[in-house]
Amino acid sequence: METIVADITCNPKEDEKIYEKAGEILRAGGLVAFPTETVYGLGADALDEAASAKIYAAKGRPSDNPLIVHIADMDAVYKLASEVPEAAVKLADKFWPGPLTMILKKSDIVPESITGGLGTVAIRMPSHKVAAELIRSSGVYIAAPSANTSGKPSPTLARHVIKDLSGKIDMIIDTVDIGVESTIIDLSEDVPTILRPGFITKEMFEEVVGEVRIDPAITDGVKAGVVPKAPGMKYKHYAPDADLKIIEGDIDKVVSYINDNTRKLMDEGYKVAIMTTDETKHLYTDGIIISMGHKSDELSAARHLYATLREFDNEHIDYVFSESFETENVGRAVMNRLIKAAGHTII
Ligand code: TXA
Ligand code: MG
Repeated sequence: METIVADITCNPKEDEKIYEKAGEILRAGGLVAFPTETVYGLGADALDEAASAKIYAAKGRPSDNPLIVHIADMDAVYKLASEVPEAAVKLADKFWPGPLTMILKKSDIVPESITGGLGTVAIRMPSHKVAAELIRSSGVYIAAPSANTSGKPSPTLARHVIKDLSGKIDMIIDTVDIGVESTIIDLSEDVPTILRPGFITKEMFEEVVGEVRIDPAITDGVKAGVVPKAPGMKYKHYAPDADLKIIEGDIDKVVSYINDNTRKLMDEGYKVAIMTTDETKHLYTDGIIISMGHKSDELSAARHLYATLREFDNEHIDYVFSESFETENVGRAVMNRLIKAAGHTII
């Protein structure tokens, strides 16, 4: 299959043609990759089982891993969910459109093939104007996982999508500026529970709806092997081909551990990269040194994370040592992804 790659140009006439074409493809049961404010999504008509089956095939995604349904207005929530609790309305008011996914009890129109057989459905109203316009103009609810091959880092640039999915999907819409996936909050039970950390934090939720829990699989998962409530969180994800280790502790010790091991591996002929920050990058002596931005600027680390992980593959890096990034706020989301990329190796 030939994949159309279309650039959103901000020329209204040209852009309109792109949305028309993409809408046609979606309504006919095809696949369109599109930008959101978090990562690129691989979209299909959420209510068309055959169309969503193509998503699983193109990504090589396990069929028990459910998809997020992307919507453009609140009416859609009442159609897709059988119950809309007060907390959902409040959180939608505060955080939608935006990087928040809510898990609600599903209505009958939602096929189980997109919920991995669960009785709940994940719903998100993206704020990115291309995503919003695509949903609105196509007239379909768009089921979309991140537009990467399963197990690879989520795509933050169209060329990441092209690399993974070119020839396997109908169309890719290209644009700029994105970061880390949406926060997922489960509202299908009594106490709202965060299933995947993201830009919207526990503290931000608590201001709106009171007590919020974090799925123990996120905080203890590394040690305890607790089963996460979001099926997708159990898979090793975002994995670069390189062996990635996160080194935690006193910065002096971290630096000397990384320097010693980098030297050793390079002497053996391996390519080694180091993930660091603007504050500490000058302390490293060898290897390919990559700064994730200022330590204090958590958003910068979030924005750089996936592109950096992919860069390691392009450069055929064998080993990566990463400093740990703060575990508060967005830093928790960044570390959660990094830990998964490392296949849970923390030293
Ligand atoms: O920012 C995002 O959320 C991006 C953009 C494209 O919207 N999408 C995304 O989708 O990250 P994906 O498929 O890569 O991750 C969806 C996660 C998976 O871990 C999945 O298991 C979980 O959401 N999920 C989906 N439906 C669920 C449900 N009914 N109950 C619990 N977890 C669910
Ligand atoms: Mg994903």
